[in-house]
Amino acid sequence: MQRRNGLQMAAAALLTAAAFLAVGPVSAAPDGSRWGADYFPNVPLTTQDGKTVRFYDDLLKGKIVAIYLMYTTCQYACPLETARLAEAQRFLGDRVGKDIFFYSISIDPKRDTPEVLKSYAKKYHAGPGWLFLTGKPADIELISKKLGLYSEPNPANKDGHTPVLMVGNVPAGQWMKNSALDNPRFLSIMIGQYLDGWQHRAAEPLKSYAEAPKLSTADNGQYLFTSKCAACHTIGHGDRVGPDLAGVTRVRDRAWLTRYMETPDEVLAAGDPIATALFQQYKEVRMPNLRLSEADVAALIGYLAAQDAAAVAGEKAAR
Ligand code: HEC
Repeated sequence: MQRRNGLQMAAAALLTAAAFLAVGPVSAAPDGSRWGADYFPNVPLTTQDGKTVRFYDDLLKGKIVAIYLMYTTCQYACPLETARLAEAQRFLGDRVGKDIFFYSISIDPKRDTPEVLKSYAKKYHAGPGWLFLTGKPADIELISKKLGLYSEPNPANKDGHTPVLMVGNVPAGQWMKNSALDNPRFLSIMIGQYLDGWQHRAAEPLKSYAEAPKLSTADNGQYLFTSKCAACHTIGHGDRVGPDLAGVTRVRDRAWLTRYMETPDEVLAAGDPIATALFQQYKEVRMPNLRLSEADVAALIGYLAAQDAAAVAGEKAAR
C-alpha cells in the first residue's frame, strides 16, 4: 500500500474538484452537448420498488447525479462504496432526492432482483432519491460503457468492475470520476459544491473546503480507519452497518483479528465459528475483503488497541 498521507490525498482530491468546478460556464454545455441525450442510452431500468424508469429521461436529464456499479453479493470494494455513499447521503441531508440523485446500478441483474435490491437499500438506509437499479444485462453493459466504467470480465480481478463513482452535472454536461477511496464527508462536500457551482456559478467555490475532513497525517492507522472502515464501523458509538468495534482488541485474539481483517471472506468460508456468528447477526452485508496489506492491518490493530486502552484508562479514572 503506498503511503500517501491523508492530507496529500485530500489535497489531490480538492485540486480535482477545483479544476472540475472551474470548467467553463454552464451555458457552454447545452443539452445537445456531447454528454447529453444523444450520448446516453435511454434504456429502461427497474428500481428497487419495481418501477420502470428510463436511463436518460428519468434518471439523468436536468439532474446532479452520483452513479456507480455494484452487486449485492460483492465481497470486495462495492460494500465500502455503498457505505460511503450512505454517509455522503447523511451529510447532504434532504438535498438527496431534491437536486442530487444517487444511482447504484447492479452488474449482476440475474441475482439482483428488485426485491434483493430493496432489502440491500434498506440495510444502508438509502433515502428518497437513491435508487438501486437493475435491468437487461445488455442495457447495463451499454450504460457502463457510456459511463466509462466498463471493464472486461477478468477472473484475476474478483471485483469484476471498476470501483469508481461517476459524479455528473447533466445540464452542464460535466462529469468527473471520483475514486471510491474518497472520504464520505469530502465526497458530500464535493457533490454539494458541484451543485452550488452549477446553480450559483461557483460564487465562492473554495470557501467550504475548509470543512473538508480533517485527516491526521500522524497516524496511519487512524487514517486507514477513517477512509476504509468508518463508513461501516464506529468505535464506541454503536453499531452501524457493521458492529461497534470498541473493545474488539480485548475480546478477540490478535492472530484472529489479523486473519479476519486480511481475508474475512476466507475466514468465513472456512467455517470459523466467530465469523459465522457475526455473519448471521449482520445478515445483508458482509465484512468486505479490502485487500489490506500486512502493514495496514498492523496499523489498524494498533489504532483499535490504542482506542481500547484509552477507554479503559478513562473508566479507571472515572472510578
Ligand atoms: C461495507 C461495510 C464494512 C466495511 C467497509 C468494513 N467492515 Fe468490518 N464488518 C462489517 C460487517 C457487516 C461485519 C460483521 C460480520 C459480517 O457480517 O461479515 C464486520 C466485522 C468486522 C470485525 C469483527 C468484529 C468482531 O466482533 O470480532 C472486525 C474486527 C472488522 N469488521 C474490522 C474492520 C476494519 C478494520 C475495517 C476497515 C479496514 C472494516 N471492518 C471495514 C462491515 C464492514
